[in-house]
Amino acid sequence: MDFKLFLIRKIKALFFRFKLHVLIKPFEGVLINAAYLSKLSRWIDKTPKGNFNDFYNKKVNYTDRFKLHEFVFKEEIQNQTIDYFEFGVASGIAFKWWVEKNNNPGSKFFGFDVFTGLPEDFGVMKKNNIMILPDKHQIFKMTVLLLLKVYFKIHFHDF
Ligand SMILES: C[S@@+](CC[C@H](N)C(=O)[O-])C[C@H]1O[C@@H](n2cnc3c(N)ncnc32)[C@H](O)[C@@H]1O
Repeated sequence: MDFKLFLIRKIKALFFRFKLHVLIKPFEGVLINAAYLSKLSRWIDKTPKGNFNDFYNKKVNYTDRFKLHEFVFKEEIQNQTIDYFEFGVASGIAFKWWVEKNNNPGSKFFGFDVFTGLPEDFGVMKKNNIMILPDKHQIFKMTVLLLLKVYFKIHFHDF
């Protein structure tokens, strides 16, 4: 233990003294990504697969995620009272799915997004890159849906 600690401190000190960051800097991104990929891969490998699992799937289809939503809804949520938070709602496709699916008048839905483009660089996507914005039609539909929910919650609270 003492020797291990000694070694760690020595390596750190030598690293700083010989300014080894100059050598490492060009590979920082790749090394950090490799470390997190490895951690995630280990977690995937160790975590029990559960009853819903379509991994590994060569034909990735964006809408397949709703099969997972459907599973979570059926197995875990059903029509219980929920507080739904979505960070990054974009055009509101998933948000709308949950608002329509869970009809419990006590449920609350919260969606967050900058809607003005990414606030900072995110990997290959650059700052200010606008991913998907809701069109006027979708905003209108979502607003009507939410207002109806609020209306029913206020007027039919006891039902
Ligand atoms: C891939 S889209 C999300 C898709 C959506 N959840 C769905 O299932 O349809 C990612 C969204 O996150 C938003 N976003 C990314 N970083 C953000 C940040 N730091 N603050 C707020 N919104 C952010 C983007 O504006 C974008 O609309």
